[in-house]
Amino acid sequence: MVLSRHAGMGPVVSRFAAIMVACAAPVWANAAEGPKPAPPQAWSFKGPLGHFDLAAVQRGYGVYAAVCATCHGLAQVHFSDLADMGLDSEQVLALAASWRVPDGLDAHNHLQYRKGRPDDAFPMPFGSPAAAKAANGGIVPPDLSRMVSVYPGGADRVYALLTGFAPDARHVEGKGFANPYAIGHFTAMPPPWHEGALHYADGTEPTVQQQARDVTTFLAWVSAPHQDTRHRLGVGAGLYLCFLALLFVLLNRRVWSDVRK
Ligand code: HEC
Repeated sequence: MVLSRHAGMGPVVSRFAAIMVACAAPVWANAAEGPKPAPPQAWSFKGPLGHFDLAAVQRGYGVYAAVCATCHGLAQVHFSDLADMGLDSEQVLALAASWRVPDGLDAHNHLQYRKGRPDDAFPMPFGSPAAAKAANGGIVPPDLSRMVSVYPGGADRVYALLTGFAPDARHVEGKGFANPYAIGHFTAMPPPWHEGALHYADGTEPTVQQQARDVTTFLAWVSAPHQDTRHRLGVGAGLYLCFLALLFVLLNRRVWSDVRK
C-alpha cells in the first residue's frame, strides 16, 4: 500500500507543477500592468482602537442586498450573524424572511424555495458555477464573505474598485470593463451602480461614493465580525495590566520599606 502510494507520487508532483504554472500564467500576463495603488481612506474601523460605525454597516447591508447580491454570495454569513449590527430578534426574523433560500427538489426535480430563517446562510446567487460563469462572461463572481480581509489592498482597494469605473464604461470584447484598480486594468464586473436603485431609511443621500463606502464597511464588518469585541477586550486587558503593575510597585515599596539602604 505504502509502496504503491510512493509509486504514484511522480504523476502527482507533475500535476501539481502543471497546476502551479497554470495559476501563475495569468499573473505573468498581467504583471506589466499592476493595479493602480488605492488612495487611503479614513475608516472608523482601522487601527488598534478602531470600531465599526453600525449605522454605516446597516446601510451597507442594504446596498449589498439591493445591488451586489444578484452576482455575489456571502456563503460564510448566516442571517443571525447580522443581529450584531444592532438588530433585535424580530428584525433578524424579518430580514431572513426577505430572502428566498433553496429547499430541496420537488417530485419533478425542480428546485423549491422557501423564506429564509435566521439560522440559514445567505443563499448563492446562481444555481451552479456553470450558471454563474454563463451570466458573467465566463468568470464566477467571487464570494464576498472574507473579501475585505483577503483582497490585496483591503477596504481601500475595494472602495477604489467600486468607484473606479468611468461614467461611460463599456464592455470591451475579451477584456471586460476598464477600471484602473483591477489587475490588468480590466475587470469582468460591470459597473454595479444604477441611478435610484436604493433609498436609505435614515435619510442619507445615496451617492455612488456613499453607497461604495457603506458596502465596503459592511463587507469589512462581515470579514471581521469580532473585531470590535477584540479591541474592547484588548483595551480592558491593557488597563488591567497597568493597574496590576502599579499595585506591584506599591507593594514592592512597602515590603522593603524597613530595610535600610
Ligand atoms: C452583474 C454582476 C455583478 C454585480 C452586480 C457585482 N459584481 Fe462584483 N464582480 C463580478 C464579477 C464577474 C467579478 C469578477 C471580476 C474579475 O475577476 O475580473 C466581480 C469581482 C468583484 C470583486 C473582486 C475584484 C477583483 O479584482 O476580482 C469585488 C470586491 C466585488 N466584485 C465587489 C462587488 C460589490 C461590493 C458589488 C455591489 C456593490 C458588486 N461587486 C456587484 C460581478 C458583479
